[in-house]
Amino acid sequence: MNGRDMYRVEDKDKKRRFGIGIGFGIGIGIGIGIGRMGWKSLGEGRVEKFKANARSPKMKLWIIRATTMVLLWTCLVQLTALGDTWGPRVLKGWPSSFTQDSHSATALDVKFLPTAPARVLPPKRVYQNNGYLMVSCNGGLNQMRSAICDMVAIARFLNFEDIFDVNHFITSLRDEVRILKQLPPRLKKRVESGIVHTMPPVSWSDISYYHNQFCPHEMQILPLIKKHKVVHLNRTDARLANNGQPLELQKLRCRVNFNALRFTPQIEYLGRRVVQLLRRNGPFLVLHLRYEMDMLAFSGCTQGCKTDEVEELTRMRYAYPWWKEKIINSELKRKDGLCPLTPEETALTLRALNIDSDIQIYVAAGEIYGGQRRMAGLASAFPKLNHSSQMAALDYLVSLESDIFIPTYDGNMAKVVEGHRRYLGFKKTILLDRKLVVELIDRYTSGSLSWDEFSGAVKAAHTAARMGSPKKRVVLPERPKEEDYFYANPEECLQPLESEPLSILR
Ligand SMILES: *[C@@H]1O[C@H](CO)[C@@H](O)[C@H](O)[C@H]1NC(C)=O
Ligand SMILES: *[C@@H]1O[C@H](CO)[C@@H](O)[C@H](O)[C@H]1NC(C)=O
Repeated sequence: MNGRDMYRVEDKDKKRRFGIGIGFGIGIGIGIGIGRMGWKSLGEGRVEKFKANARSPKMKLWIIRATTMVLLWTCLVQLTALGDTWGPRVLKGWPSSFTQDSHSATALDVKFLPTAPARVLPPKRVYQNNGYLMVSCNGGLNQMRSAICDMVAIARFLNFEDIFDVNHFITSLRDEVRILKQLPPRLKKRVESGIVHTMPPVSWSDISYYHNQFCPHEMQILPLIKKHKVVHLNRTDARLANNGQPLELQKLRCRVNFNALRFTPQIEYLGRRVVQLLRRNGPFLVLHLRYEMDMLAFSGCTQGCKTDEVEELTRMRYAYPWWKEKIINSELKRKDGLCPLTPEETALTLRALNIDSDIQIYVAAGEIYGGQRRMAGLASAFPKLNHSSQMAALDYLVSLESDIFIPTYDGNMAKVVEGHRRYLGFKKTILLDRKLVVELIDRYTSGSLSWDEFSGAVKAAHTAARMGSPKKRVVLPERPKEEDYFYANPEECLQPLESEPLSILR
């Protein structure tokens, strides 16, 4: 693997192929064995920097644990058909009637999650096994996060049995799906010898594509599972439509995202420490400054870069076969609002929004391309600037807890954090209108707007609707890619605005 392979961009066609051997060998041991690969998933383009930072043994241990966790997301889902009982169960909201084992599993949960309060586990769902679904997640940490939620939701509708803080994940979802760490021996052997039906599910599908009781001819996945016993889904991002799905399915997507998916106690501990340190010095803002080399190379956005930097970014873009777009006009793309804001543009925008120059800013991002030269403006406007740990999972937690969250680009992290903050009580998330902002910046820097006019226009464009307040998801049935993302605004699961903001770090 050369250095360039290490760079990843969240949203693209690149794949994270956890091979089949990995797929069924999930477990702590294996997680460590292929730590490097797993870290790529976690790193979201910040691997190089992190390697440099990963000096202390403690840090290494955390990396290994984080890695392990991400790998566990590569999951096995066991499928079963309930037949006749399916319909009524959906209508009744999936009640369960078995309670055996709940006692021992509670003990297990407490044992593995010493920091979490004791919780009542749902009773196990009991059903007959019909086959297995094996899932390989692609993308960075946050892309995987939403993919896992979708896969569980799909699995439930297919009557899967099995998938992650693995013990918590497994036990907390056991009234919906049974999640296995490994396939049963006979099937495992078969998969090991290469006999497995592998396919990428059609993107943005309705659940009827996987399971449809009323129009069986529309259904494509369940018959395959019944036929092959194991089906390996080798792409997981955006395989389920944002809108038009049954309410129960939408709620289950939330339940997985907000309750079942937890980081390991070690990462949560670290998150709590960082948040405590920041809080001690007053309010803090998390800036997801998506200005890393991989992002710029991929997007072709080179505003403010020097000639040799532009060349370097272009070379990197051409080196990646799966980055399809090669010839990019940076200026046009920027004017269309399709570029991440540069650090300089970000500094102007934050000042225009009257963000207190005394606020602490935690920059959740990998290494900023161009380094100090590019960060100078931001650092002088906001002296209390901290750069992040370079650990995606930790950045996620700190982002959730911050007083204000501002992403400079709408990637997976920005979207998933936006949605999670809505869920935690509509915490302030400033969603910048990049197209307008860059236009205003150009008018200000060319002298056709005064500072007050510029600042007034930026503020006027960012009212409550762009601050994470309740709003409707945009639905465009014919253009699923342009719809609002389910996980950015999981309306179906949100509390009324008045409720107390929540914290996931107890
Ligand atoms: C998924 O599997 C199909 C069929 O085996 C293959 O053609 C495709 O390239 C695979 N895609 C990924 C992302 O691995
Ligand atoms: C953030 O940086 C400031 C100074 O730049 C420092 O005093 C503070 O301790 C840092 N906070 C954290 C959590 O690292």
